[in-house]
Amino acid sequence: MPAPGAKPITDEEGPLFHLLRQLDLAPEASQREISSAIGVSLGRLNAQLRSAAEAGFITISERSGPDRRQRFAYTLTSRGAAEKARLTDRFLARKFLEYQALHAELTGTASGYVPNSNRTRFMQNNLAPIPELYVSYDSAQKLKVDAGELVSHDLTPRQICDLELLMNGGFYPLKGFLGQEDYDGVVENMRLADGSLWPMPITLDVKQAYADTIEIGQDIALRDQEGVILATMTVTDKWVPNKSREAEKVFGADDSAHPAVNYLHNTAGDVYLGGPVTGIQQPVHYDFRARRDTPNELRAYFRKLGWRKVVAFQTRNPLHRAHQELTFRAAKESQANLLIHPVVGMTKPGDVDHFTRVRCYEAVIDKYPGSTTTMSLLPLAMRMAGPREAVWHGLIRKNFGVTHFIVGRDHAGPGKNSAGDDFYGPYDAQELFKEHEDEMGIEMVPFKHMVYVEERAQYEPNDEIEDKDDVTILNISGTELRRRLQEGLEIPDWFSFPEVVQELRKTKPPRSKQGFTVFFTGFSGSGKSTIANALMTKLMEMGGRPVTLLDGDIVRKNLSSELGFSKEHRDLNIRRIGFVASEITKNGGIAICAPIAPYAATRRAVREDIEQYGAFVEVHVATSLEECERRDRKGLYKLAREGKIKEFTGISDPYDVPQNPELAVETENVDVDNCAHQVILKLESMGLIAGH
Ligand code: PPS
Repeated sequence: MPAPGAKPITDEEGPLFHLLRQLDLAPEASQREISSAIGVSLGRLNAQLRSAAEAGFITISERSGPDRRQRFAYTLTSRGAAEKARLTDRFLARKFLEYQALHAELTGTASGYVPNSNRTRFMQNNLAPIPELYVSYDSAQKLKVDAGELVSHDLTPRQICDLELLMNGGFYPLKGFLGQEDYDGVVENMRLADGSLWPMPITLDVKQAYADTIEIGQDIALRDQEGVILATMTVTDKWVPNKSREAEKVFGADDSAHPAVNYLHNTAGDVYLGGPVTGIQQPVHYDFRARRDTPNELRAYFRKLGWRKVVAFQTRNPLHRAHQELTFRAAKESQANLLIHPVVGMTKPGDVDHFTRVRCYEAVIDKYPGSTTTMSLLPLAMRMAGPREAVWHGLIRKNFGVTHFIVGRDHAGPGKNSAGDDFYGPYDAQELFKEHEDEMGIEMVPFKHMVYVEERAQYEPNDEIEDKDDVTILNISGTELRRRLQEGLEIPDWFSFPEVVQELRKTKPPRSKQGFTVFFTGFSGSGKSTIANALMTKLMEMGGRPVTLLDGDIVRKNLSSELGFSKEHRDLNIRRIGFVASEITKNGGIAICAPIAPYAATRRAVREDIEQYGAFVEVHVATSLEECERRDRKGLYKLAREGKIKEFTGISDPYDVPQNPELAVETENVDVDNCAHQVILKLESMGLIAGH
């Protein structure tokens, strides 16, 4: 399958392609073997090797050892591997044209190039192997050693997910992290510079200080979080993106209530690097290995089973009965086999973790007829970009050999914006998909909202029920399900499968048995520590869960003694507190934190870290600056006013007032005991401590 915009290879480029391909396949081969494999004389081969070395595509080194007939070793550089990948596309484009011409000649039918819009007719394409960005095993061993010398970039968890799908063909036709021209096209009109459809910017964001050390044209090594080199990248582009523009165009609004916009502004680095990637090895996964497949593995599986039509279901949630009914119907309607294809990379903060979800999927997969359905896990980092994300998901699924794709209501929806409205209309994703369906070469199976009709004891699409007034329609929303799980309430059999509910209850015991974090924030001297201490004592008196106090001063002494009060240091301090609190919460304890924590974005990041495991209760100790300064218990405000303490919160440093804390307490004219009691009442109302 040629890349959508690839031009056919020219006669001049052919020899270089054959040479690079051969060196990748057998880097240990002698000159004689290479010349016979690619059909050129030894003299001609020598000239080719020299010019490939001059272009930086290969290195020629002296080979040690006694065999004098093999004096030199030839190794593909990462640039050479990228060139080989580029020429492969052009080679395939030429073969494709030749095939079309032959087909026309033999059948007397259409001649010339088949336009994209008709590609869906060539469904067998979905079973042919798809190009990957990996070099051969032998080349990878050599490249890994060379890459050890390169400047490294330590990939973030999201970049590792992106890289895995770049390398294994999941993001085909991308050849690496986007360069600036491709990025601009993708942001502005969902197209790469060569015109092919691609809705999502796949970018390598880095910190400014790191970017300053990188030159255009330089090769860098991409390492996972343990330092393993997964790939190299030749940096062809380096630029500072307009993040607000990216947010507006890709996610529909520059609103940090959108998880990907929040990521863009508060987690992603300020500079993007782009360039072709050369794959050395895939990221290591220790979990559910048998359930993970690359696009080529799934294609081979479909080929082997003779599945010509496959409909995929994308999900980031546990499967309940409505999902099963929907997927059954989709398979029936499209007369296709079914692929349950859940995302196990990164989903929306706060989602059920993928370990629990996969155990839930395993529990229901047996309820599908075995010969018609399979399940595979997708290491995708979702962006929750609604309509654009649906198109992206479709293109990815096509790469995995799928012919049909289910798009339901509010596909990849990010929830509410900061004004409390939905970011996208419920069927926007279906519309955008429909617009591009022909070009994409994968068919949409659209689904409306499924609800349970009690009288008929079955699920039906809401908009197809004609006797709505005469029947009882039942539905449990995601929010309602979470509430029932949190409070240990009944989850009816018509809604889910007992095995799934049991699995969910194991990881999500009722809130009164889970860990949680109370996070006080406020000015110095606002009373955070005093209230936190009183709260700790009250909770210890109640018993049941261990309580840990992470007071600002205690933390600064024990965890962060080397840090000052710059923004960077304060953020580091708060992230450390967040890390410890999330571990405590995960293990069922109560963490009480009481730092100033002046930055809203950092507080939000900590919230996201903790909410994976239990509740995060933000308490704003809303004592006014004037009152804190009047009290001036430690004499610090006086020193700050005199300029003897720099960067002092409220005086010479900012404080973002919490916009939506779970609780705000006034301390002026209210005693400490009462303030702590207000927190206890809040915890009770949230179901975190059992009422008296
Ligand atoms: S932060 O911003 O959350 O990292 O601050 P935190 O770790 O809570 O530390 C605040 C305590 O440090 C003392 N102190 C300062 N506070 C603010 N700004 C400056 N420049 C500063 N220098 C020292 C101050 O006593 C704070 O204690 P609390 O308990 O808040 O009064």
